[in-house]
Amino acid sequence: MESELLKLQAEAEESLQQITDVTQLEAFRVKYLGRKGGLLTGIMRQLKTVPAEDRPRLGQLANEVKQAVENAFEKQKEQLASQFSATAASKVDLSLPGRFLPFGKLHPVTQVMEEICSIFEGLGFAVAEGPDVETDYYNFEALNIPQHHPARDMHDTFYVTDSILLRTHTSPMQARIMEQQEPPLRYIAPGKVYRCDSDITHTPMFHQVEGFLVDRDVSFADLKGVLTSFTRTMFERELALRFRPSFFPFTEPSAEVDIACVICEGSGCRVCKRSGWLEILGAGLIDPEVLKMVGYDPDRFSGFAFGLGVERIAMLKYGIDDIRLYYENDLRFLSQF
Ligand code: DAH
Repeated sequence: MESELLKLQAEAEESLQQITDVTQLEAFRVKYLGRKGGLLTGIMRQLKTVPAEDRPRLGQLANEVKQAVENAFEKQKEQLASQFSATAASKVDLSLPGRFLPFGKLHPVTQVMEEICSIFEGLGFAVAEGPDVETDYYNFEALNIPQHHPARDMHDTFYVTDSILLRTHTSPMQARIMEQQEPPLRYIAPGKVYRCDSDITHTPMFHQVEGFLVDRDVSFADLKGVLTSFTRTMFERELALRFRPSFFPFTEPSAEVDIACVICEGSGCRVCKRSGWLEILGAGLIDPEVLKMVGYDPDRFSGFAFGLGVERIAMLKYGIDDIRLYYENDLRFLSQF
């Protein structure tokens, strides 16, 4: 038994040297020191069977061996732990830059849309939104564009059914709001509009902001004042504005409003089609027919209306010469704003 004990101690100490991780260490503990099947525990149980005169000596030896193995085990355990924390520490490089947390931004068109809205809000206009899927009635009829009117051709409409369509402009909001409320009214209606059209200045979906004001004695001068004030704030300088006589079935008189091309400063480029001007909106005094259709008396009330293209304004503000860039989802482009 004496030699068995010493052999076991030697064996245990040697196998401890081979141990490189915690799993092996635990296996060692179970094998040698485990309370149930451990080898040392096994030998100590045999003490009962040795002759009584040998028992004290062997008992002491067994305890010494057990103590030695336990000590060696604890030592190895500590060594492994310190090795582990040393390698973990060497893996932390405090000079590395911190981890970048990417954060999103608003799309440039959204940013400009919000800016347009806040300028008009500053001028006392309220904001209202309406449906993208619109009825033929609000998109056309209520705006004095009856069936078969030639003005419908300009709209390149996407139809859902004969009487339901994707709105081609935000003007239907004029009729929707006037129908519900009495003057005085001052509203803008921002949103998406859809037309079957695509080139460097047109995309099939784009954004407009409709604006209108109805009150007593509203004149073209009021319209000019509001739009001049808007463009000055938007472009942060005094930009030339040009009112070109035009026709819209829902306004009379009507105008197309141009702004001096800020890309070429008026000398002519591909964005302004060499004219030096860029159309930013259509406007006019609300046609009495439109007022009558919502039950207003055109002898008591008058109003002006305008509809502006958000992408165009954003192109001018940022000097972008191709509208399609907005919708190609190229982050190299979008993240500049
Ligand atoms: N709805 C017109 C369009 O999309 C723009 C427009 C022109 C709106 C004149 C108006 C207006 O309110 O008075 O082409």
